[in-house]
Amino acid sequence: MNPTIIEDIKARKVLDSRGNWTIEVDVITRLGFGRCAAPSGASTGKYEVVSLPENNVDKALVEVEESITPEMVGMDAEEQEVIDSILKEVDGTGNFASIGGNTAVALSLANAKAAASSYGLSLYRYLGGNFATEIPYPLGNVIGGGAHAVNATDIQEFLTIPVGAKDAKEALSVNSEIHKRAKNALLKKTKYNLGKGDEGAWAPNIKDEEALKVLSAVSKEVTGETGVEVRLGMDVAASELWDSKAKRYVYKQEGKKRTVDEQVEYISGLIEDYDLFYVEDPIQEEDYEAFAALTKGAKCLICGDDLYVTNVRRLQEGIRKKATNAILIKPNQCGTLTDTYRAVSLAKRSGITPVLSHRSGETVDETIAHLAVAFGCPIIKTGVVGGERIAKLNELIRISEELSTQRGRMAALQ
Ligand code: PGA
Ligand code: ZN
Repeated sequence: MNPTIIEDIKARKVLDSRGNWTIEVDVITRLGFGRCAAPSGASTGKYEVVSLPENNVDKALVEVEESITPEMVGMDAEEQEVIDSILKEVDGTGNFASIGGNTAVALSLANAKAAASSYGLSLYRYLGGNFATEIPYPLGNVIGGGAHAVNATDIQEFLTIPVGAKDAKEALSVNSEIHKRAKNALLKKTKYNLGKGDEGAWAPNIKDEEALKVLSAVSKEVTGETGVEVRLGMDVAASELWDSKAKRYVYKQEGKKRTVDEQVEYISGLIEDYDLFYVEDPIQEEDYEAFAALTKGAKCLICGDDLYVTNVRRLQEGIRKKATNAILIKPNQCGTLTDTYRAVSLAKRSGITPVLSHRSGETVDETIAHLAVAFGCPIIKTGVVGGERIAKLNELIRISEELSTQRGRMAALQ
Protein backbone atom coordinates (compact mmCIF):
# COMPACT_ATOMS: atom_id res chain seq x y z
CA MET A 1 0.00 0.00 0.00
CA ASN A 2 1.41 3.37 -0.98
CA PRO A 3 1.14 5.61 2.13
CA THR A 4 1.37 8.87 0.18
CA ILE A 5 -1.63 8.52 -2.14
CA ILE A 6 -3.88 11.59 -1.82
CA GLU A 7 -7.32 10.68 -0.51
CA ASP A 8 -8.86 14.10 -0.04
CA ILE A 9 -8.23 17.83 -0.08
CA LYS A 10 -10.07 20.41 1.99
CA ALA A 11 -9.77 24.18 1.75
CA ARG A 12 -11.17 26.81 4.08
CA LYS A 13 -10.80 30.50 4.74
CA VAL A 14 -9.00 31.61 7.89
CA LEU A 15 -7.93 35.02 9.13
CA ASP A 16 -4.41 36.33 8.74
CA SER A 17 -2.52 38.68 11.07
CA ARG A 18 -4.01 41.76 9.37
CA GLY A 19 -7.53 40.42 9.83
CA ASN A 20 -7.90 39.57 6.15
CA TRP A 21 -9.22 36.27 4.91
CA THR A 22 -6.69 33.89 3.47
CA ILE A 23 -6.78 30.29 2.30
CA GLU A 24 -5.77 27.23 4.32
CA VAL A 25 -5.53 23.81 2.69
CA ASP A 26 -5.50 20.31 4.20
CA VAL A 27 -4.12 17.42 2.19
CA ILE A 28 -5.04 13.96 3.45
CA THR A 29 -3.06 10.97 2.26
CA ARG A 30 -3.54 7.30 3.13
CA LEU A 31 -1.22 7.56 6.10
CA GLY A 32 -0.62 11.28 6.48
CA PHE A 33 -1.96 14.77 6.82
CA GLY A 34 -0.57 18.18 5.85
CA ARG A 35 -1.94 21.66 6.47
CA CYS A 36 -0.72 25.01 5.22
CA ALA A 37 -2.16 28.54 5.22
CA ALA A 38 -1.02 31.13 2.69
CA PRO A 39 0.52 34.45 3.76
CA SER A 40 0.06 37.74 1.93
CA GLY A 41 2.17 40.80 1.15
CA ALA A 42 1.46 44.54 1.45
CA SER A 43 4.47 45.79 -0.50
CA THR A 44 4.10 43.16 -3.18
CA GLY A 45 6.39 42.99 -6.19
CA LYS A 46 4.94 43.83 -9.58
CA TYR A 47 6.11 40.49 -11.01
CA GLU A 48 4.75 38.19 -8.31
CA VAL A 49 2.14 35.64 -9.33
CA VAL A 50 -1.43 36.82 -8.69
CA SER A 51 -2.12 36.05 -5.07
CA LEU A 52 -5.85 35.27 -5.16
CA PRO A 53 -8.36 35.34 -8.00
CA GLU A 54 -9.79 38.88 -7.83
CA ASN A 55 -8.80 38.98 -4.16
CA ASN A 56 -11.62 36.52 -3.60
CA VAL A 57 -10.96 33.66 -1.18
CA ASP A 58 -14.42 32.22 -1.76
CA LYS A 59 -13.67 31.86 -5.46
CA ALA A 60 -10.38 30.15 -4.56
CA LEU A 61 -12.29 27.67 -2.38
CA VAL A 62 -14.59 26.84 -5.27
CA GLU A 63 -11.55 26.32 -7.52
CA VAL A 64 -10.05 23.88 -5.05
CA GLU A 65 -13.24 21.93 -4.69
CA GLU A 66 -14.34 21.88 -8.31
CA SER A 67 -11.18 22.03 -10.42
CA ILE A 68 -8.22 20.95 -8.30
CA THR A 69 -9.39 18.22 -5.92
CA PRO A 70 -10.79 15.93 -8.65
CA GLU A 71 -7.38 16.09 -10.40
CA MET A 72 -5.39 15.43 -7.22
CA VAL A 73 -7.27 12.59 -5.54
CA GLY A 74 -5.48 9.34 -6.31
CA MET A 75 -2.20 11.12 -7.14
CA ASP A 76 0.97 10.43 -5.16
CA ALA A 77 1.86 13.29 -2.79
CA GLU A 78 5.49 12.24 -3.02
CA GLU A 79 5.52 13.29 -6.67
CA GLN A 80 5.80 16.97 -5.76
CA GLU A 81 6.80 18.13 -9.25
CA VAL A 82 3.78 16.37 -10.77
CA ILE A 83 1.45 17.86 -8.17
CA ASP A 84 2.87 21.34 -8.84
CA SER A 85 2.59 20.96 -12.59
CA ILE A 86 -1.05 19.91 -12.23
CA LEU A 87 -1.66 23.13 -10.30
CA LYS A 88 -0.20 25.07 -13.22
CA GLU A 89 -2.21 23.11 -15.77
CA VAL A 90 -5.49 23.58 -13.92
CA ASP A 91 -4.73 27.30 -13.60
CA GLY A 92 -3.74 27.69 -17.23
CA THR A 93 -2.79 31.39 -17.06
CA GLY A 94 0.96 31.16 -16.42
CA ASN A 95 0.77 33.38 -13.34
CA PHE A 96 -1.92 31.72 -11.22
CA ALA A 97 -4.43 34.45 -12.06
CA SER A 98 -7.17 31.87 -12.23
CA ILE A 99 -6.71 29.71 -9.11
CA GLY A 100 -4.48 32.17 -7.22
CA GLY A 101 -0.83 31.88 -6.17
CA ASN A 102 -1.87 31.65 -2.55
CA THR A 103 -4.21 28.77 -3.32
CA ALA A 104 -1.37 27.07 -5.17
CA VAL A 105 1.24 27.64 -2.48
CA ALA A 106 -1.01 26.48 0.36
CA LEU A 107 -1.85 23.31 -1.53
CA SER A 108 1.70 22.69 -2.74
CA LEU A 109 3.20 23.02 0.76
CA ALA A 110 0.35 21.12 2.45
CA ASN A 111 1.02 18.34 -0.05
CA ALA A 112 4.71 18.13 0.95
CA LYS A 113 3.74 18.15 4.62
CA ALA A 114 1.25 15.34 4.02
CA ALA A 115 3.90 13.27 2.23
CA ALA A 116 6.35 13.87 5.10
CA SER A 117 3.73 12.94 7.65
CA SER A 118 2.88 9.75 5.75
CA TYR A 119 6.41 8.57 6.59
CA GLY A 120 6.36 9.98 10.12
CA LEU A 121 8.96 12.57 9.18
CA SER A 122 9.29 16.28 9.91
CA LEU A 123 9.03 18.40 6.77
CA TYR A 124 12.65 19.63 7.00
CA ARG A 125 13.91 16.05 7.22
CA TYR A 126 11.66 14.78 4.43
CA LEU A 127 12.78 17.56 2.07
CA GLY A 128 16.38 18.02 3.19
CA GLY A 129 17.42 14.47 4.08
CA ASN A 130 20.83 14.28 5.72
CA PHE A 131 21.77 17.69 4.29
CA ALA A 132 19.38 19.39 6.70
CA THR A 133 21.78 20.02 9.56
CA GLU A 134 21.97 23.77 10.10
CA ILE A 135 19.83 26.37 11.81
CA PRO A 136 19.46 29.65 9.88
CA TYR A 137 20.21 32.97 11.55
CA PRO A 138 17.04 34.94 12.27
CA LEU A 139 16.95 38.33 10.57
CA GLY A 140 14.41 40.32 12.56
CA ASN A 141 12.39 43.44 11.89
CA VAL A 142 12.78 45.75 14.93
CA ILE A 143 11.80 49.19 13.58
CA GLY A 144 9.84 49.93 10.45
CA GLY A 145 7.40 51.91 8.41
CA GLY A 146 6.86 52.17 4.65
CA ALA A 147 3.83 50.18 3.49
CA HIS A 148 3.62 48.37 6.85
CA ALA A 149 2.71 51.35 9.07
CA VAL A 150 1.19 54.82 8.95
CA ASN A 151 3.36 57.93 9.30
CA ALA A 152 6.50 56.05 10.25
CA THR A 153 9.96 55.69 8.66
CA ASP A 154 10.28 55.86 4.86
CA ILE A 155 12.48 52.78 4.75
CA GLN A 156 10.25 49.76 5.38
CA GLU A 157 12.36 47.70 7.78
CA PHE A 158 15.34 48.10 10.10
CA LEU A 159 16.60 44.65 10.97
CA THR A 160 19.06 42.90 13.24
CA ILE A 161 20.88 39.61 12.78
CA PRO A 162 22.80 38.11 15.71
CA VAL A 163 25.71 36.78 13.64
CA GLY A 164 27.66 35.75 16.75
CA ALA A 165 24.90 33.57 18.24
CA LYS A 166 25.95 30.03 19.02
CA ASP A 167 22.51 28.48 18.73
CA ALA A 168 18.87 29.19 17.92
CA LYS A 169 17.86 30.11 21.46
CA GLU A 170 20.66 32.61 21.86
CA ALA A 171 19.89 34.12 18.46
CA LEU A 172 16.20 34.54 19.28
CA SER A 173 16.82 35.93 22.72
CA VAL A 174 19.24 38.57 21.42
CA ASN A 175 16.81 39.77 18.73
CA SER A 176 13.92 39.95 21.18
CA GLU A 177 16.01 41.79 23.78
CA ILE A 178 16.92 44.38 21.14
CA HIS A 179 13.25 44.72 20.20
CA LYS A 180 12.26 45.28 23.86
CA ARG A 181 14.93 47.87 24.49
CA ALA A 182 14.31 49.71 21.22
CA LYS A 183 10.92 50.71 22.61
CA ASN A 184 12.29 52.93 25.36
CA ALA A 185 15.02 54.33 23.16
CA LEU A 186 12.42 55.26 20.53
CA LEU A 187 10.04 56.80 23.05
CA LYS A 188 12.75 59.36 23.77
CA LYS A 189 12.86 60.29 20.08
CA THR A 190 9.24 60.50 19.05
CA LYS A 191 6.65 62.92 20.32
CA TYR A 192 3.79 60.67 19.25
CA ASN A 193 2.68 57.43 20.80
CA LEU A 194 4.69 54.53 19.57
CA GLY A 195 2.75 51.90 17.63
CA LYS A 196 3.74 48.78 15.75
CA GLY A 197 3.60 47.93 12.07
CA ASP A 198 2.21 44.84 10.39
CA GLU A 199 5.22 42.69 11.27
CA GLY A 200 5.43 43.74 14.92
CA ALA A 201 8.26 46.23 14.40
CA TRP A 202 8.08 49.56 16.25
CA ALA A 203 6.71 52.21 13.90
CA PRO A 204 8.05 55.60 15.00
CA ASN A 205 7.47 58.90 13.26
CA ILE A 206 11.20 59.60 12.77
CA LYS A 207 13.69 59.83 9.93
CA ASP A 208 15.45 56.72 8.66
CA GLU A 209 18.88 57.63 9.97
CA GLU A 210 17.50 58.24 13.44
CA ALA A 211 16.09 54.71 13.37
CA LEU A 212 19.50 53.36 12.37
CA LYS A 213 21.17 55.30 15.17
CA VAL A 214 18.75 53.94 17.77
CA LEU A 215 19.07 50.39 16.48
CA SER A 216 22.84 50.63 16.40
CA ALA A 217 23.05 51.92 19.98
CA VAL A 218 20.61 49.35 21.35
CA SER A 219 22.35 46.50 19.53
CA LYS A 220 25.73 47.57 20.89
CA GLU A 221 24.28 47.66 24.40
CA VAL A 222 22.91 44.11 24.04
CA THR A 223 26.17 42.88 22.52
CA GLY A 224 28.05 44.44 25.43
CA GLU A 225 25.97 42.49 27.92
CA THR A 226 25.67 39.18 26.08
CA GLY A 227 28.92 39.05 24.12
CA VAL A 228 26.91 38.13 21.00
CA GLU A 229 27.89 40.08 17.89
CA VAL A 230 24.90 41.69 16.17
CA ARG A 231 24.83 43.34 12.76
CA LEU A 232 22.21 45.62 11.25
CA GLY A 233 20.22 45.35 8.06
CA MET A 234 17.38 47.05 6.27
CA ASP A 235 14.69 46.42 3.69
CA VAL A 236 14.36 49.67 1.77
CA ALA A 237 11.43 48.31 -0.30
CA ALA A 238 12.49 50.94 -2.81
CA SER A 239 9.78 50.19 -5.36
CA GLU A 240 7.37 51.79 -2.86
CA LEU A 241 9.49 54.97 -2.76
CA TRP A 242 10.02 55.20 -6.51
CA ASP A 243 8.13 57.85 -8.46
CA SER A 244 8.41 56.53 -12.01
CA LYS A 245 7.22 59.77 -13.63
CA ALA A 246 9.60 62.05 -11.77
CA LYS A 247 12.29 59.33 -11.79
CA ARG A 248 13.07 60.01 -8.16
CA TYR A 249 13.04 58.07 -4.89
CA VAL A 250 10.72 60.05 -2.62
CA TYR A 251 11.49 60.19 1.13
CA LYS A 252 8.53 61.85 2.83
CA GLN A 253 9.85 62.02 6.39
CA GLU A 254 13.05 63.62 5.19
CA GLY A 255 11.32 65.76 2.59
CA LYS A 256 13.91 64.60 0.05
CA LYS A 257 13.85 63.23 -3.47
CA ARG A 258 16.80 61.26 -4.79
CA THR A 259 17.84 60.48 -8.36
CA VAL A 260 19.03 56.95 -9.14
CA ASP A 261 22.68 57.95 -8.72
CA GLU A 262 21.90 59.75 -5.49
CA GLN A 263 20.04 56.68 -4.22
CA VAL A 264 23.04 54.43 -4.93
CA GLU A 265 25.31 56.90 -3.19
CA TYR A 266 22.94 57.32 -0.22
CA ILE A 267 22.59 53.57 0.38
CA SER A 268 26.36 53.00 -0.04
CA GLY A 269 26.89 55.68 2.59
CA LEU A 270 24.49 53.99 5.02
CA ILE A 271 26.20 50.62 4.47
CA GLU A 272 29.52 52.23 5.31
CA ASP A 273 28.35 54.36 8.26
CA TYR A 274 26.34 51.66 10.00
CA ASP A 275 28.43 48.67 8.92
CA LEU A 276 25.31 47.10 7.47
CA PHE A 277 25.30 43.34 6.96
CA TYR A 278 22.20 43.16 4.78
CA VAL A 279 20.30 45.52 2.47
CA GLU A 280 17.14 44.37 0.66
CA ASP A 281 15.58 46.11 -2.34
CA PRO A 282 17.67 49.29 -2.12
CA ILE A 283 16.62 49.97 -5.73
CA GLN A 284 13.22 49.67 -7.46
CA GLU A 285 12.23 46.38 -9.09
CA GLU A 286 12.97 47.28 -12.74
CA ASP A 287 16.50 48.59 -12.35
CA TYR A 288 19.02 45.72 -12.45
CA GLU A 289 21.76 48.15 -13.48
CA ALA A 290 21.55 50.35 -10.39
CA PHE A 291 21.41 47.22 -8.25
CA ALA A 292 24.64 46.08 -9.93
CA ALA A 293 26.27 49.46 -9.36
CA LEU A 294 25.53 49.16 -5.65
CA THR A 295 26.49 45.49 -5.34
CA LYS A 296 29.84 46.11 -7.01
CA GLY A 297 32.23 46.71 -4.18
CA ALA A 298 29.55 46.47 -1.44
CA LYS A 299 30.89 44.65 1.59
CA CYS A 300 27.43 43.47 2.53
CA LEU A 301 24.58 41.30 1.33
CA ILE A 302 22.50 43.12 -1.29
CA CYS A 303 19.27 41.17 -1.55
CA GLY A 304 16.58 41.19 -4.24
CA ASP A 305 12.97 40.73 -3.14
CA ASP A 306 10.60 42.64 -5.46
CA LEU A 307 13.44 42.48 -8.00
CA TYR A 308 13.33 38.67 -8.26
CA VAL A 309 9.94 37.66 -6.79
CA THR A 310 11.41 34.14 -6.30
CA ASN A 311 11.34 33.73 -10.08
CA VAL A 312 14.10 31.70 -11.74
CA ARG A 313 14.05 33.75 -14.95
CA ARG A 314 14.40 37.04 -13.11
CA LEU A 315 17.16 35.56 -10.97
CA GLN A 316 18.99 34.39 -14.11
CA GLU A 317 18.89 37.96 -15.40
CA GLY A 318 20.18 39.20 -12.05
CA ILE A 319 23.05 36.71 -12.15
CA ARG A 320 23.95 37.77 -15.71
CA LYS A 321 23.94 41.41 -14.70
CA LYS A 322 25.62 40.82 -11.31
CA ALA A 323 22.71 42.68 -9.75
CA THR A 324 22.86 41.23 -6.21
CA ASN A 325 24.64 38.69 -4.03
CA ALA A 326 21.48 37.54 -2.20
CA ILE A 327 17.86 36.67 -3.00
CA LEU A 328 14.77 36.76 -0.82
CA ILE A 329 12.77 33.54 -1.11
CA LYS A 330 9.01 33.80 -0.59
CA PRO A 331 7.13 30.67 -1.71
CA ASN A 332 3.89 32.56 -2.38
CA GLN A 333 5.64 34.87 -4.85
CA CYS A 334 6.02 31.95 -7.26
CA GLY A 335 3.22 29.68 -6.02
CA THR A 336 4.79 26.21 -5.74
CA LEU A 337 7.34 24.34 -3.69
CA THR A 338 9.03 23.09 -6.86
CA ASP A 339 9.60 26.62 -8.19
CA THR A 340 10.71 27.80 -4.74
CA TYR A 341 13.27 25.00 -4.65
CA ARG A 342 14.46 25.80 -8.19
CA ALA A 343 15.09 29.43 -7.22
CA VAL A 344 16.99 28.41 -4.07
CA SER A 345 19.05 25.87 -5.90
CA LEU A 346 19.98 28.23 -8.77
CA ALA A 347 20.95 30.84 -6.19
CA LYS A 348 23.18 28.44 -4.28
CA ARG A 349 24.87 27.17 -7.45
CA SER A 350 25.56 30.78 -8.43
CA GLY A 351 26.99 31.95 -5.11
CA ILE A 352 23.87 33.99 -4.29
CA THR A 353 22.78 33.76 -0.64
CA PRO A 354 19.15 32.59 -0.29
CA VAL A 355 17.17 34.22 2.54
CA LEU A 356 13.89 32.48 3.33
CA SER A 357 11.16 34.94 4.21
CA HIS A 358 7.71 35.44 5.71
CA ARG A 359 5.21 38.01 4.36
CA SER A 360 3.81 40.97 6.25
CA GLY A 361 0.41 39.24 6.45
CA GLU A 362 0.94 35.88 8.13
CA THR A 363 -0.76 33.12 10.09
CA VAL A 364 0.77 30.85 12.71
CA ASP A 365 1.79 28.51 9.90
CA GLU A 366 5.35 27.39 10.64
CA THR A 367 6.27 25.85 7.28
CA ILE A 368 8.98 28.34 6.27
CA ALA A 369 11.12 27.36 9.27
CA HIS A 370 11.27 23.85 7.82
CA LEU A 371 11.99 25.10 4.31
CA ALA A 372 14.91 27.24 5.51
CA VAL A 373 16.51 24.26 7.26
CA ALA A 374 15.69 21.79 4.46
CA PHE A 375 17.13 24.02 1.73
CA GLY A 376 20.19 25.08 3.74
CA CYS A 377 19.31 28.79 3.71
CA PRO A 378 21.73 30.52 6.11
CA ILE A 379 19.23 33.24 6.99
CA ILE A 380 15.49 33.31 7.76
CA LYS A 381 13.64 36.63 7.81
CA THR A 382 10.55 36.27 9.93
CA GLY A 383 10.19 39.15 12.37
CA VAL A 384 10.88 39.19 16.09
CA VAL A 385 7.57 39.33 17.95
CA GLY A 386 3.89 38.59 17.41
CA GLY A 387 2.24 35.16 17.45
CA GLU A 388 2.46 34.70 13.70
CA ARG A 389 6.20 35.53 13.73
CA ILE A 390 7.20 33.51 16.78
CA ALA A 391 5.34 30.51 15.35
CA LYS A 392 8.25 30.20 12.91
CA LEU A 393 10.94 31.18 15.42
CA ASN A 394 9.74 28.70 18.03
CA GLU A 395 9.64 26.01 15.37
CA LEU A 396 13.37 26.67 14.82
CA ILE A 397 13.92 25.87 18.50
CA ARG A 398 12.06 22.57 18.10
CA ILE A 399 14.00 21.70 14.95
CA SER A 400 17.30 22.59 16.63
CA GLU A 401 16.40 20.28 19.51
CA GLU A 402 16.05 17.42 17.04
CA LEU A 403 19.23 18.43 15.23
CA SER A 404 21.36 18.76 18.35
CA THR A 405 21.78 15.01 18.41
CA GLN A 406 22.71 15.07 14.74
CA ARG A 407 25.44 17.68 14.17
CA GLY A 408 23.00 20.59 14.47
CA ARG A 409 24.71 23.97 14.39
CA MET A 410 24.16 27.49 13.16
CA ALA A 411 24.53 27.92 9.42
CA ALA A 412 27.72 29.26 7.84
CA LEU A 413 27.41 32.97 7.04
CA GLN A 414 29.65 34.72 4.54
P1 PGA B 1 5.44 42.23 2.18
O1 PGA B 1 6.74 42.81 2.89
O2 PGA B 1 5.20 40.87 2.70
O3 PGA B 1 4.42 43.24 2.56
O4 PGA B 1 5.74 42.22 0.70
C1 PGA B 1 7.85 42.06 3.22
C2 PGA B 1 9.03 42.46 2.41
O5 PGA B 1 8.98 43.41 1.60
O6 PGA B 1 10.06 41.82 2.55
ZN1 ZN C 1 11.19 43.14 0.98
